[in-house]
Amino acid sequence: MTEEDFGARSASLNLGGGTRPRVLVARAVFPDILEKLQAVADVEYTQDDRIDPPEVLRARLRDKHGAFITNSERIDATLLDACPDLRVISTMTVGVDHIDLDACAVRGVIVTHAPDVLTETTADFGFALLLAAARQIGDAERYLRAGKWHKWSYDLFAGSDVHGTTLGIVGMGRIGQAIARRAAFGFGMKVLYHNRKPLPSTVEHECRAAYRGLDDLLHESDHVLLALPYSPTARHLIGEREIAAMRQGATLINVARGGVVDEEALVRALHRGHLGAVGLDVFEGEPHVNPALLAAPRVVLTPHIASSSIPTRRAMVKLAVDNLIAVLQGRPPLTPFNA
Ligand code: DGY
Repeated sequence: MTEEDFGARSASLNLGGGTRPRVLVARAVFPDILEKLQAVADVEYTQDDRIDPPEVLRARLRDKHGAFITNSERIDATLLDACPDLRVISTMTVGVDHIDLDACAVRGVIVTHAPDVLTETTADFGFALLLAAARQIGDAERYLRAGKWHKWSYDLFAGSDVHGTTLGIVGMGRIGQAIARRAAFGFGMKVLYHNRKPLPSTVEHECRAAYRGLDDLLHESDHVLLALPYSPTARHLIGEREIAAMRQGATLINVARGGVVDEEALVRALHRGHLGAVGLDVFEGEPHVNPALLAAPRVVLTPHIASSSIPTRRAMVKLAVDNLIAVLQGRPPLTPFNA
């Protein structure tokens, strides 16, 4: 977004006469990072970290010019229509599937997000989940804590190898590429990837990754890791047919969005022993988790924490605050989504 494009869009944020912009910070975040925002705007904020129902969020946003949100706040046309002064929505996440981008665009509302700052941390976690699932670390730890460990045995929690095997990455954006580098250089893995379109050969070379159609990738990979952005077309991209196309005993890891996987089909595949292990950080109706998943064997489940290291979460909040301040002060945001 150039200064000129941005000037046209932000003209309506001319508050006039020394009026300070009004901002809602919808959730609890690191309070010290908010001080910067409080210096330039009137900020409604509470450390009481609750997720507001839609009508409460609408009421809190009604007179605001800017919103700081997380992926728990749904931004749709109904909300936007109730908030005529709203000019900028800044989400501290990289994913924007909780925001109706078309509804924002037609109302001239700028949407910013937080890419890059979480890439490496999320890739670390994707790899941790792969290792935990393939090597059955969750089940093994629960077994030990339950006092069930009485002897060393040759096949106790004997899982799958990760090093030297084939990893198929679906979604080769920044996070997918960072995972590919870990796999290729750290674990000597062969890396395949599937994307809407192949990456430039320089990037493929840098990640030591080869493009495959989805079916070929599923068929050739020992471990499949999902790192694609969510869109309605990605819903249940991995369903009954795709799971059946995976290798017997393969691992499936999801650090994308829960809706990408048909969880019922996943549970069935685990029970019939087709999948060796599953690692999920994201869920279809999160924070609700399908009880069938909780009861399924060989599954590692974590509460959407892939980007959750302190330095990274601080960087995400800081970037979201800087985006808000830029727009409120009439400058282009650092990381716009709907430029
Ligand atoms: C993101 O930033 O999109 C992470 O998934 C956290 O929601």
